[in-house]
Amino acid sequence: MRMKRAVVTGASSGIGAATVRLLRSHGWEVLGVARREDRLRELAAETGAEVFVADLTKQDDVDALRDHLRATGGVSTLVNNAGGAVGMDSVESSDPADWQQMFDVNVLAVQRVTSALLPLLREAVADGSVAGADIMTVSSTAAHTAYEGGGGYNASKFGVHAMLDALRLELNGEPIRVLEIAPGMVKTDEFSTNRFRGDSERAAAVYANVPEPLTAEDVATTIVSTIELPAHVSLDLIIMKPVAQSALHKVFRGPLTVKERRPS
Ligand SMILES: NC(=O)c1ccc[n+]([C@@H]2O[C@H](COP(=O)([O-])OP(=O)(O)OC[C@H]3O[C@@H](n4cnc5c(N)ncnc54)[C@H](OP(=O)(O)O)[C@@H]3O)[C@@H](O)[C@H]2O)c1
Repeated sequence: MRMKRAVVTGASSGIGAATVRLLRSHGWEVLGVARREDRLRELAAETGAEVFVADLTKQDDVDALRDHLRATGGVSTLVNNAGGAVGMDSVESSDPADWQQMFDVNVLAVQRVTSALLPLLREAVADGSVAGADIMTVSSTAAHTAYEGGGGYNASKFGVHAMLDALRLELNGEPIRVLEIAPGMVKTDEFSTNRFRGDSERAAAVYANVPEPLTAEDVATTIVSTIELPAHVSLDLIIMKPVAQSALHKVFRGPLTVKERRPS
C-alpha cells in the first residue's frame, strides 16, 4: 500500500475540494470523489489528485470505488464529507422526498462508504504502511442542536453523529480513529444555494454582515491538522464556529468590537 493515501468524498466543491488541495500540498496521495466529473477533472489538473466519479447513494458506485482503491494501492484515511441540506421547511410542511435525499447522502452514504472501505483501512495498518487509519466525517453543529426549519437536516446529521459514536465503540481495540468535525456557519459557494434550490438571494442572506464566517479552507485546515496528529491522539469530536457565532442560532452581524469594561 502507498503511504498516507486519503479518500475525500464531496471533492468537487467547498470543504471537500479545499481538503483535497491541502492534503496534496502536505504530500498526501488523494482520491477525490463526487458526481460531477468536470469539476473533479479540474481539481485533478490543479492538484495532481486522482479522482473517481461516483454517486455515493448507489451501492454499485460504492462497490466500484472500493474495487478501484483495492486495485490501486488501498487507502489509509477516509474523509466522509459529501452531504448537504435540502430546504428549510417546518416538520409539518416538509416534503418527505427532501428528507429522503438528506438521509440518503448524509447518513446512508456515510454508512455505505465506511463499511466498504473499512477492510482496506485495516489492511493499510496490517501491512505496516501506517501506524493507524482514520475515518473523519464532516457532520455539522446541526448534528448537535436543532433549529426551526432544520428538522430534516438535523435528523440526518444527528443520525450520522449517533452512527459515529456507535462505530467508535465497535472499533475499540483497533488502531482506527473515528473522528467527527461539526462546523457551524461555513461560507461555501454551493451549500446554501443548493439548500434554497438555487435562490441565490436567500442563500446570500444567510451570511449577510456576518464578520468572517468560516471558510472551506478553515475547515480543511482543521481536518488535516486533526488527522496529522500522532496516530494515538483522537480528537473524537470537534465543534468549530466563527467567533461571531456563539451558538447555532446566535450569530452576530456587524463588526466585532470589544466592549468597555463595566464597573462592578
Ligand atoms: N457550508 C456549511 O455551512 C456547512 C456547515 C456544516 C457542515 N457542512 C457539511 O459539510 C459538508 C460539505 O459541505 P460544503 O459546504 O462544502 O457543501 P458543497 O459545496 O455543496 O459540497 C457538497 C459536496 O458533496 C458532493 N455530493 C453531494 N451528493 C453526493 C452524492 N450523492 N455522491 C457523491 N457526492 C455527493 C457534491 O458533489 P457533486 O454534486 O459533484 O456530487 C459536493 O462536492 C456537507 O456534509 C455539509 O452538510 C456544511
